[in-house]
Amino acid sequence: MVDSLTLTRPDDWHLHLRDGVALRAVLPHTARQFARAIVMPNLQPPVTTTALALAYKRRIVEAAPDGARFEPLMTLYLTDRTAPDEIRRAREAGIVAVKLYPAGATTNSDAGVTDIRKTFAALEAMQREGLRLLVHGEVTDPAVDVFDREAVFIERVLDPLRRDFPALKVVFEHITTQDAAQYVAAAGANLAATITAHHLLYNRNALFKGGLRPHWYCLPVLKRETHRQALLRAATSGSPKFFLGTDSAPHAAHLKEQACGCAGCYTALAALELYAQAFDEAGALDRLEGFASFFGADFYGLPRNADRIVLKRETWTLPEALPFGEHVLAPLAGGETLSWRFAGEATS
Ligand code: DOR
Ligand code: ZN
Repeated sequence: MVDSLTLTRPDDWHLHLRDGVALRAVLPHTARQFARAIVMPNLQPPVTTTALALAYKRRIVEAAPDGARFEPLMTLYLTDRTAPDEIRRAREAGIVAVKLYPAGATTNSDAGVTDIRKTFAALEAMQREGLRLLVHGEVTDPAVDVFDREAVFIERVLDPLRRDFPALKVVFEHITTQDAAQYVAAAGANLAATITAHHLLYNRNALFKGGLRPHWYCLPVLKRETHRQALLRAATSGSPKFFLGTDSAPHAAHLKEQACGCAGCYTALAALELYAQAFDEAGALDRLEGFASFFGADFYGLPRNADRIVLKRETWTLPEALPFGEHVLAPLAGGETLSWRFAGEATS
């Protein structure tokens, strides 16, 4: 049995860092494990311009712990009014991607896209400038069952969009279904997908185990076991089209534990441990490094990291609560036992 894993330092290709005291509470967790992260722009108000993204980047860098060598990779929030000029400015400023939230699909998506055709000028500019399009892939049509929203999005939005913009590089974020895994695997090299640790570890039964479990509620929502199995196969397949994106999304515990609870699972505290658990259970620990450390950087055209980190097989218990400004943050699976533990930078 393997007791220790040494990996090229990984990156998180989908992360919510929030702002202010929340940012200061969560950033050390990500900066400890990852070299870089794609920072989601769904703040309030959203990060819709290059100027806002650069100001947010400065706040993140200032909030990083002393000595951290963490690099935030910034994104813009796509709206019906995003101008082609803004895309050019974004590329010149080193912004790497633009996030599509269908309006109303998830947390802070009210300013999102109401009709994909309204974004065509911006998408055209992104295709030209080489910015990636990151997609929250769910339709918002209330007539579509919540569990089918990702599959319907492929058919109604993603597939037509990829035909209209064949050279646009697209990341289908946090995929949750067999439909999405198959669609991405069959597509050309311009389409890739991120997969979260929680969608690899849990199916939708986790939401209802012994009662309603708000800390397992995220969007897209957990699906049935056949879908989890398909995601595991994709993540451990060795295909460079699938890579790590935690979608770690902190909300104060009381905002998840109320009548209308917020969507989002907080996994950054033990992100690599959770992924290692999923890959270990699938007998595929040898595939973790490609998924966590290589394929995302390759898709974004960025260098792979040079330093290495160590994970050790060690039993420990995830804390149930963490400080979060004047509130409390409840990590996903708090109180549960994990069998891998992040042990820091490799010394040799
Ligand atoms: O569960 C989610 N939480 N899904 C999202 O798409 C957004 C995120 C958040 O920002 O809380
Ligand atoms: Zn997200």
